Amino acid sequence: MFGSPLLRAPVLATVLSGFLACGVQALPKITRTGKYLYDESGTRFYIKGVAYQEQGAVVESADNAFGEPSSFIDPLSVGDACKRDVSFLKDLGINTIRVYSVNSSLNHDDCMSTFSQAGIYTLIDLSLPLNGSIDRNQPAWGTNVLDQYTRTIDVFSKYDNVLGYNIGNEAVVGDHPTTAPFVKAAARDIKSYLSSKKITALIGYAAINGAADFRVPLANFLSCDPSGANSDSSSIDMYGLNNYEWCGDSTFAAAYQGTTQAFSNYNVVAYFGEFGCVPPSPPRPWTEVKELFSSDMAPVWSGGIAFSYFPASSAAGQFGMVTISSDSKTVTTGQDYDNLKSQYGAVSFINSPSQSSVSASSYPTCPTTINSVAVSTKLPPTPNEAACNCLESALSCQFTPKTSNYSTIVGEIIPFGCGLVGQAGGSCDEISGDGGNGTYGRVSYCDPAIKASYVMSLYYEATNKNAQSCSFAGNGTVNSKVPTSVPNAAAAASSCVASPDAVFVPSSAPSSTGKGSSSSGGSSASGKPSAGLSLTEGPHALVAVGMAAMVSLLGAAWTLA
Ligand SMILES: *[C@@H]1O[C@H](CO)[C@@H](O)[C@H](O)[C@H]1NC(C)=O
Ligand SMILES: *[C@@H]1O[C@H](CO)[C@@H](O)[C@H](O)[C@H]1NC(C)=O
Ligand SMILES: *[C@@H]1O[C@H](CO)[C@@H](O)[C@H](O)[C@H]1NC(C)=O
Ligand SMILES: *[C@@H]1O[C@H](CO)[C@@H](O)[C@H](O)[C@H]1NC(C)=O
Ligand SMILES: *[C@@H]1O[C@H](CO)[C@@H](O)[C@H](O)[C@H]1NC(C)=O
Repeated sequence: MFGSPLLRAPVLATVLSGFLACGVQALPKITRTGKYLYDESGTRFYIKGVAYQEQGAVVESADNAFGEPSSFIDPLSVGDACKRDVSFLKDLGINTIRVYSVNSSLNHDDCMSTFSQAGIYTLIDLSLPLNGSIDRNQPAWGTNVLDQYTRTIDVFSKYDNVLGYNIGNEAVVGDHPTTAPFVKAAARDIKSYLSSKKITALIGYAAINGAADFRVPLANFLSCDPSGANSDSSSIDMYGLNNYEWCGDSTFAAAYQGTTQAFSNYNVVAYFGEFGCVPPSPPRPWTEVKELFSSDMAPVWSGGIAFSYFPASSAAGQFGMVTISSDSKTVTTGQDYDNLKSQYGAVSFINSPSQSSVSASSYPTCPTTINSVAVSTKLPPTPNEAACNCLESALSCQFTPKTSNYSTIVGEIIPFGCGLVGQAGGSCDEISGDGGNGTYGRVSYCDPAIKASYVMSLYYEATNKNAQSCSFAGNGTVNSKVPTSVPNAAAAASSCVASPDAVFVPSSAPSSTGKGSSSSGGSSASGKPSAGLSLTEGPHALVAVGMAAMVSLLGAAWTLA
């Protein structure tokens, strides 16, 4: 854990003079050729990075085995903090920061230009805590998360220093490998969105490490072509393996050799999405750095992200390199920072192979199992907002919570309502999807609030439209615009979602203000990502996301008053 030996005398933050971006040379674009990254001059690009996000509030609970935060502070929205930190980041010798959650409503100009002027690229995770990510245990690829992702891209596409966007962090774990098709569908749709907007940023995913029969098939699944036509259309560009295999002073043979061999034939870019094991005892010597950029590893890996600039604690240790004073003005560096700085300072990149000698990637057919569990190569469809809006307006009972903070209620109402629907002889199949057998219900990509309305309508109709059955303790309202003779909820789903398998280029998200109270909602998630823990020993996205850890109270809270 965090200890005073880590700290040395405070160093006053250097405040950069705030000169404007006009006239400043844009950073070179980084692109992928085959399994490597190159800059515009054809020089190989390696990620020499650090994770850059303060840890959000972590609520300890059995439902939060990964110790993930339920809130976040957007590190690219606080210009003064970026100016405070940039000299330390430059001094560390990095060229990339990874941020785990950003808020598309905020302004990022100040930070993005501060980092651009310092030659620092950003790797931006698109997910947010709780319902802003693909749920590990009850995954969906839905309009709500798609909209959040495209809004973020719209906001960041104007900057010259976005290296790539991660569509998920540790969303697929060993005990729920059938989440992978949902993540791959996100890669497919975000990729086509970027391409439609002529945005060249790369698409990535950051993975939890694990046993060979988990991590290798997962990596291959995300970079394969399910159609067998060698197309890149649903492949990620870069696979970030969150890797904590090197602890203290280790060796290539002991820490990385097996992993490097396992990825030696990988078809797209591979790098360490996080690294920096704390045990056996702090401070970390960061001696893995010279290995990561050495001739042992450079043919396979394109660098990595050291975890973490800001303090970040978990059961596995204290991962921060600096501390920030309580008035947010002063940075105090620790021994971890000094050690990483000297290791990063000693790196020279191996500029090989040359870009012209590298052949384009091929995209093989997909693995059919991950962690020995069958996963379908039939991916979920592209979330279709218009179809979901059509359905919503046709539903006889609508989810109308009395609070804007409704995502927990959605998480309770859906399983509870489905229990009632089942007792009444109906089925909630259309709201769920199964990545194991490639079955995706017509309503499965709709916003969770619309799914709740759908379930409530099924029950209301199954009980002969008894007004009490639409109440759900005050969370439901009968839709007076739907005449009693209209098609029922299931028929509305069939007519509104006429092409349930359709894949298409998503359009920009509607403005977040123009929607009704029930048109944007939370995940129906619950559950524990427990078995994933046995696969690795990292801090597990301390500042990150990956699931909605909502407590499903099932029937407990419910009466039909
Ligand atoms: C984004 O920032 C706005 C403005 O401060 C705030 O209202 C909103 O709740 C934030 N969104 C998230 C997801 O934190
Ligand atoms: C939102 O609801 C959850 C669960 O009911 C509660 O823990 C949380 O404090 C609420 N947040 C706000 C801002 O009301
Ligand atoms: C998450 O839930 C909140 C309400 O609790 C909602 O405002 C927000 O839009 C939801 N986000 C997503 C991506 O569904
Ligand atoms: C797919 O799996 C789900 C359970 O997750 C099951 O309800 C459904 O019947 C299965 N469909 C097929 C076609 O096997
Ligand atoms: C809605 O559901 C919540 C349970 O999540 C319950 O506490 C509340 O009483 C219900 N009714 C209203 C009017 O919010």
